Amino acid sequence: TIERTLVLIKPDAVKRGLVGEILARYERKALRIVAMEQREVDASMADKHYHEHLDRDFYPALRSFVTSGPLVALVLEGDDAVSAVRLLNGATDGRRAEPGSIRGDWALSNRENLVHGSDSPEAAAREVGLWFPGLG
Ligand code: CMP
Repeated sequence: TIERTLVLIKPDAVKRGLVGEILARYERKALRIVAMEQREVDASMADKHYHEHLDRDFYPALRSFVTSGPLVALVLEGDDAVSAVRLLNGATDGRRAEPGSIRGDWALSNRENLVHGSDSPEAAAREVGLWFPGLG
């Protein structure tokens, strides 16, 4: 099934100069970039994006992190794009993520884990609509 998914290349990746290397991995996988923009995210946008995590103990630190500098938001499209991106990203916790994945190769933190990918087609539809309301 052709799907679209929302990816965030988070502030840690932007600060470390990894945007190009991360994008190259998605492109080499033949995922198509449908939309892409560098953004500064405020607390309200962070709360909307992470609404399911608002009550978690880690959320205040997560909000500080995602609002700490520019990030790159993009929409990728391809066959089973939601799960394909999650495989490329690797496990959430960089310390345990598989070598060969983005987090496995470049992250060593559970919070500063370089990328976000929608975790289901339903979440992808919501997140694409939130970040890129103009997309048809
Ligand atoms: P992401 O895929 O964007 O979805 C939720 C984010 O919360 C996750 O990546 C991490 O950045 C962060 N996160 C998840 N679990 C924890 C945790 N236990 N401690 C700190 N940050 C976390």
